[in-house]
Amino acid sequence: MDGDALVIFTPSGKRGRFARGTPVLTAARQLGVDLDSVCGGRGICSKCQVTPGFGAFPKHGVTVAPDALSEWNAVEQRYKDKRGMIEGRRLGCQAKIMGDVVIDVPPESQLHRQVVRKAASARAVAMDPATRLFYVEVAEPDMHEPSGDLERLATALREQWQIDAVEAGPAVLRKLQPVLRKGEWAVTVALFRDHRGGTARILDLWPGLYEGALAGLAIDLGSTTIAAHLCDLRDGRVLASGGIMNPQIRFGEDLMSRVSYAMMNPGGAAEMTDAVRLSINALAQSVAAEAGIDPAAVMETVVVCNPVMHHLFLGIDPVELGQAPFALATSSSLSLPARDVGLTALNPEARLYTLPCIAGHVGADAAAVALSEAPHLSDDLVLIVDVGTNAEILLGNKTRVLACSSPTGPAFEGAQISSGQRAAPGAIERLEIDPVTKEPRFRVIGCEVWSDDPRFAEAVAGTGVTGICGSGIIEAVAEMRMAGIVDAAGLIGSPEQTGTARCEPEGRTHSYLIHDGSAQGGPRITVTQGDIRAIQLAKSALYAGARLLMDEMGVDAVDRVVLAGAFGAHISAKHAMVLGMIPDCPLDKVTSAGNAAGTGARLALCNIGARAGIEAQVRQIHKVETAIEPRFQEHFVNASALPHAIDPFPNLAKIVTLPQVTHNTGGEGGGRRRRR
Ligand code: FES
Repeated sequence: MDGDALVIFTPSGKRGRFARGTPVLTAARQLGVDLDSVCGGRGICSKCQVTPGFGAFPKHGVTVAPDALSEWNAVEQRYKDKRGMIEGRRLGCQAKIMGDVVIDVPPESQLHRQVVRKAASARAVAMDPATRLFYVEVAEPDMHEPSGDLERLATALREQWQIDAVEAGPAVLRKLQPVLRKGEWAVTVALFRDHRGGTARILDLWPGLYEGALAGLAIDLGSTTIAAHLCDLRDGRVLASGGIMNPQIRFGEDLMSRVSYAMMNPGGAAEMTDAVRLSINALAQSVAAEAGIDPAAVMETVVVCNPVMHHLFLGIDPVELGQAPFALATSSSLSLPARDVGLTALNPEARLYTLPCIAGHVGADAAAVALSEAPHLSDDLVLIVDVGTNAEILLGNKTRVLACSSPTGPAFEGAQISSGQRAAPGAIERLEIDPVTKEPRFRVIGCEVWSDDPRFAEAVAGTGVTGICGSGIIEAVAEMRMAGIVDAAGLIGSPEQTGTARCEPEGRTHSYLIHDGSAQGGPRITVTQGDIRAIQLAKSALYAGARLLMDEMGVDAVDRVVLAGAFGAHISAKHAMVLGMIPDCPLDKVTSAGNAAGTGARLALCNIGARAGIEAQVRQIHKVETAIEPRFQEHFVNASALPHAIDPFPNLAKIVTLPQVTHNTGGEGGGRRRRR
């Protein structure tokens, strides 16, 4: 046969003509086809596996002959004998093009395979990590041409991988010589390339072809909990996840009390810094152990957190964040050695990346949510609410994105609630109240059976009924409102007003009894007037923040709402709207995004383009400072009513009719002034 052969790669559709005898890997590289290789075509890494197609391909206008590729060779056979290979696969670096051919690149051979697919936005994010492995064969030292081992390694990387220059720290230099000799001058290096440019850095190296773990840690450092996802830096898989309480809680439940602790106690900030670093090291070790890998295989970590956590983690005194104008020491992203911030449990050369902060009160966690949910790509106007001790709120679409944070306090997490507890087995998470009998039925975490089922007592024998978690208290208060037990001002009625003895007098107010386990030595679980007030404060802060952003955007309604955060995944849209936590919108337009901040951290870990992207995007986000915005107080007071004093909730009205009752007996007033 004469002339060049036509090669078509799928799924990319890239095609080109190549001289017969060209290796498939070479053709792929020339066409920019995403085909992986760690060994540089030496037939030892198997990353370049492809599946050739034979026969007629009318769609592509080619017929592929059985001999379109060179014959199966000894290198491929050796690999197959040693490691096994799926039938029909070839090594792209060994198989040569001998005729027109269609070649499929399976997902696991794609260097930039997808790491996270966001169903809501149909957005796919591909692997493009900052740290990658390169196998090289290094020239042996020669007395007649003296040069250092590192310099010859750098030459090999330049010649074999077109990497201009590299640098290495003392930890790598210490192992360089024994590793090169052990590997008989063939080594695999883990190379970190900063997305902002600069010299590539060798983080670690191993003799021969390294096939062990290469991992990164995405950390969502919250005020209350620290969550970590250990990810494979080659394919983005989550290898293990773990969580731990933020030990700084002992210095103050919320952010401002931690800032006060730093202000009032000399050395207090350093104490909190040490505590959080210690915990992150312990968490890194525990997730690595769970995944069965050495923590030294963790080459990178990405941390997302609010500004106070950000400063305390980095060892910066957060005192300026406690007072206007809430100046950050730096709002930029940071890329530095992880050991510089005391993360010593990882590889000694491991890198840390922190996302940029949006403003003094809107942190890298909000930036991570923006990265995950991409409001700037949304056609419709989306409100994204990340509910935690502090709520991060984003509002935007393709034209503009606004952000603020609002101090909701820990009530939504079950804290500061009389029967509140963290989400754990035994906690009430779902609740319904019969509007006629006013009798409740509920379900606890760890048990599928409702409390009015005869099997309930037996089903909860192991856990008991211990309290109410965050989603449970939201459902409880909303159900109380729907059943007329609570009025629009948030007052619990008397037994006479509500028609149920479950409303019990408590001083000058009333509380509603959900469950009485006292006969069995368990707790009496009630919702008190104080609990309702705590929820009102939290939800008013949340709503007022959202409303401020809507003012700034010049709108009275949003098209959809995304509830982010672990908590957002569990709350019911209907109940959240009955309470007026979120602005009115069609219920089917309220979705949950799970831990969006954690997802954003993972994206930044697995894709350097995502780092550059969020850095650029954050500069475009307009920040609204709730603490100094005069209308915040007005919005806050109006939002105290359930669901709201003046804003209409037309979509809610289509599905729920809220009773027009008033329980004010002169004892307890309406909306209490809020503390900040
Ligand atoms: S590129 Fe490594 S086996 Fe082909």
